[in-house]
Amino acid sequence: MSMTRTGTTGNDRNSFIYVVAALAALNGLLFGFDTGVISGAMLYIRNTFELATVFGYSMNASLIEGIIVSGAMIGAIIGAALGGRLADRLGRRRLILVGAVVFFVGSLIMAIAPTVEILIVGRIVDGIGVGFASVVGPLYISEISPPKIRGSLVSLNQLTITSGILIAYLVNFAFSASGEWRWMLGLGMVPAAVLFVGMLFMPESPRWLYEHGRESDAREVLARTRVETQVEDELCEIKETIHTESGTLRDLFEPWVRPMLIVGVGLAAFQQVTGINTVMYYAPTILESTGFADTASILATVGIGVVNVVMTVVAVLLIDRTGRRPLLLLGLGGMSVMLAVLGIAFYLPGLSGAIGWIATGSLMLYVAFFAIGLGPGFWLLISEIYPTEIRGTAMGVVTVVNWAGNLLVSLTFLRLIDVVGQTGTFWLYGALSVLALLFCYRLVPETKGRSLEAIEADLRETAFGAEAGERPQATETDD
Ligand code: BGC
Repeated sequence: MSMTRTGTTGNDRNSFIYVVAALAALNGLLFGFDTGVISGAMLYIRNTFELATVFGYSMNASLIEGIIVSGAMIGAIIGAALGGRLADRLGRRRLILVGAVVFFVGSLIMAIAPTVEILIVGRIVDGIGVGFASVVGPLYISEISPPKIRGSLVSLNQLTITSGILIAYLVNFAFSASGEWRWMLGLGMVPAAVLFVGMLFMPESPRWLYEHGRESDAREVLARTRVETQVEDELCEIKETIHTESGTLRDLFEPWVRPMLIVGVGLAAFQQVTGINTVMYYAPTILESTGFADTASILATVGIGVVNVVMTVVAVLLIDRTGRRPLLLLGLGGMSVMLAVLGIAFYLPGLSGAIGWIATGSLMLYVAFFAIGLGPGFWLLISEIYPTEIRGTAMGVVTVVNWAGNLLVSLTFLRLIDVVGQTGTFWLYGALSVLALLFCYRLVPETKGRSLEAIEADLRETAFGAEAGERPQATETDD
């Protein structure tokens, strides 16, 4: 048990913060459920609608399927583009409420869609909700958390993304006998409703409140989420750093912010172009090509979902102790090696028996290494490295890049396999993982244990030298 600053022994943590973070992490559940559910639902949507025309244009069925699947990603790009700015204007809490409603409405539209066109509209609306949720979930948790446990609490959002994916795989499995895709998609309304009702009782981010001139409300929120001895210290730090005028998109390109813009955009792109969603969306297809039968590959896919969740739990437990960088570097190193092995396995003739198992094992380990590093690491770091005035806007921009990368990889994966083969495809992702490793090694800062204000002060000091001195020193805080 630690000694607090005042010398008293006792619980130095206010447990309400765990309730706030766990509830806000439901944003990740919406994100993950949406990612995982469509591959299962698609199998049966085909039987309900004749996939021949859309909005009066005749198209082939696989193109229409592609539009249905990617509709949510297009929605998410729109949602992330609007969401960042909205989070700065409306407030974090209010945007979470709006996001939950949008996601709920999207799920409802899909569940009752009488035509393909309406189904596509539902997918886009649902995706806009996911876009909001993906920006504001980590943002809100980061701003409301005490520095010492911020890594774990923000990573809860990645834990719920992975759990949402796994739940969706199980829902797909449960409804596969009856083929009731409307239920599969409609079930998304449940976590959205819980998130909405729960958030009504949660406080706004103290940093956003202070920035909007509401100092006494900010103090009140800190009093609800911190032990008494920490409230005034943290408020002081916020006051010294945060300006009460809002930032604009142009501030993102200020010389002192630009290095972190590069870090955020780089991490966002690398998180996708190293291939994780080829596994999330196409695992059964990849597994079948290693020699598994249909049902075995669906079950092995559930296994991959479990590995993803379990290793994210490990990351949640470690990230505030080891720091962000060691996990990122370890994760990327492991991903690079596993992708190389996967490529070799597909290169060898006769992919069955032992080689089939090596391929499956390396696929699982690849997911494990993603889950411990780049998965939670990306969302956590982008919620930490930007100044409060433009945090929402910056996260919005970076999240758009992430969703665009997601869309690009999922649209090109099958084609890439046709053109360069499986080995070439996995080696390409492997080479990009090595590049990502070098990028992180050179450019990503360590943020463990520091307050958001100390991180911001560091940034200014690096750019302007020590005379940025009225800003607080970047000290390790006392939690
Ligand atoms: C990524 C998603 C991915 C998921 C897999 C997230 O961090 O942003 O694109 O599907 O992890 O666990």
